[in-house]
Amino acid sequence: MEFVKAKYYVESELPLEKAAQVIAAEQSTGTWVDVSTKPSDLDARLAARVVGVDEEKGTCDIDFPLEIFEISNIPQFLATVAGNLFGLEPVKNVKLLDIELPKSFAREFKGPRFGIEGIRKLVGTERDGRPHIGTIIKPKVGLNPKQTADVAYDAAMGGCDLIKDDETLTDQKFCPMEERLSGIMEKLDSVKQETGRTVLYAHNITSGLDIVERAERAVEGGANMLMIDVLTSGFSAIQAVRAEQALKVPIHVHRTMHGALTRNPRHGIAMTVISKLTRLAGGDQLHTGTVSGKMERSVEELVAMNDFLKGGFHGLKNVFPVASGGIHPLCVEPEVKTLGNDLVIQAGGGIHGHPDGTVAGARAMRQALDAVMSKIPLKEYAKDHKELARAIGKWGGDVSWSEIYEHGN
Ligand code: 3PG
Repeated sequence: MEFVKAKYYVESELPLEKAAQVIAAEQSTGTWVDVSTKPSDLDARLAARVVGVDEEKGTCDIDFPLEIFEISNIPQFLATVAGNLFGLEPVKNVKLLDIELPKSFAREFKGPRFGIEGIRKLVGTERDGRPHIGTIIKPKVGLNPKQTADVAYDAAMGGCDLIKDDETLTDQKFCPMEERLSGIMEKLDSVKQETGRTVLYAHNITSGLDIVERAERAVEGGANMLMIDVLTSGFSAIQAVRAEQALKVPIHVHRTMHGALTRNPRHGIAMTVISKLTRLAGGDQLHTGTVSGKMERSVEELVAMNDFLKGGFHGLKNVFPVASGGIHPLCVEPEVKTLGNDLVIQAGGGIHGHPDGTVAGARAMRQALDAVMSKIPLKEYAKDHKELARAIGKWGGDVSWSEIYEHGN
């Protein structure tokens, strides 16, 4: 028999073994009482089993028979391994830490269409293998399509490989998506003519009702990358877009709202699980966090997660991890040193907040990357790279995130 394996951290007034059994029963063939409707052979086929308990760590391992799952149905998968258990009265805290899937199950998913190699081919970095530099257009909402396209042009001319919408920008009246897309793609065509470089634009198609139509309209309108907020729209949104054969562009995945699930170490769903499901669903790039940015983190988990996304997984293509949130040129070195070269390093405020504007901000990011790639200390490199020197002047101090938020930066 094949199983999906799930690991949980559990806090309960019940002994750990008993609490694990309560979870296994609730999430498979049982409920709070024996029921007369249950065939006598059902448990042998479909009951989840507690296969390990670690009293010291407070964790348990539960095996779910594969037959309990519908093929390629992530909502049903989550309802099983991450459903009612979070609210059961006797289980005070529970966190789904990790999942392991049999090959036969994982291979039914499409996975990423491009992966790291495919995206590198589009951008032309397959030979040097350097990290990509991206930017999030700021302010995150409020610019009109022309203003947005102008910012995109400046960022691309400054050296960004990727321009992206922010997670809250979709199709609001002040910046309709079709006008925004055509404005930006026109500017990126000019960048191509002027510099020969292909710059990707992750166009945010996140929506509840018509995400596939939005994706189709975007690709017809020239989009070279789509963006989806996975947790607000659901993993099925990625699957639905990935399933459309005609949509031959990579999918950039933002994880906004993840903190509600991931941040509490004692309750919720670990980012590792979200990463695995995103890869199954077909995301080509995924925000996984940073070593030095504004979002809270566990570096150990981040490294392991990025390694998973970049490594083998039942024959599915890999995923380009994205480091984003509070990044500026001085963060490039720690990000690359800890997370490696297969990384998209994104800065919003850290580019558009440069004292000399967006072009200079993008240049400073590229200069920081060039310094790291050529193993030259940042301050040394900055001596004849004025944009980097100006960024060091602004962000070079040792200030905490609380101080930055309190006093500005
Ligand atoms: C993101 O999409 O990761 C954030 O909007 C990053 O913005 P920031 O670089 O200004 O923190």
